[in-house]
Amino acid sequence: MQNDIKEVLYSEEQIGVKVRELGAKLSADYEGRNPLVICVLKGAFIFMSDLVKTITVPLEIDFMAVSSYGASTKSSGVVKIIKDLDVSVEGRDVLIVEDIIDSGLTLSYLIDVLEHRGTKSVTVVTLFDKPARRTVSLEPNYKGFTLPDEFVVGYGLDYAEKYRNLPYIGILKPQVYEK
Ligand code: PRP
Ligand code: MN
Ligand code: MG
Repeated sequence: MQNDIKEVLYSEEQIGVKVRELGAKLSADYEGRNPLVICVLKGAFIFMSDLVKTITVPLEIDFMAVSSYGASTKSSGVVKIIKDLDVSVEGRDVLIVEDIIDSGLTLSYLIDVLEHRGTKSVTVVTLFDKPARRTVSLEPNYKGFTLPDEFVVGYGLDYAEKYRNLPYIGILKPQVYEK
């Protein structure tokens, strides 16, 4: 698995520092509120679990699964809800946790869906951002790292469902997805 990685972009330690930084900011900004923190499955599951441990305000969590990629390195442009939330978002301060924003399609769709359900506020935190690939205008409220336009895996991010368990984020060797 490690052999399929061309270059490690951010180590487990570097990611840890950034996650704690984001958690501290969010803790300050959400002081006195009780956010509903939504994990966008599957990619955000590791970031979500690391992040919530660093947030000090009382919060609730829920999960939503959407997919636009399938077993491809390119977005199909079609976003599908595979698993919906268990709780109502009406009147809630919603914090969406994403692993990466690429075209922006997944999140712009999700924000739309949630706002139509009567949220009080919708805020986005993403660990990774690839602004070069944006096809819809979307700026995360909080972000960890800006990435180059390379196919990256690890720390939740997959290629054909693999590599999510790598503790770091790295560039996948092109020969892995070109064959
Ligand atoms: C990936 C990633 C983001 C989304 C970003 O999810 O985890 O959710 O794509 O791409 P976009 O900005 O172009 O929409 P994917 O659809 O691969 O599902 P997964 O999280 O289950 O891997
Ligand atoms: Mn995802
Ligand atoms: Mg994926």
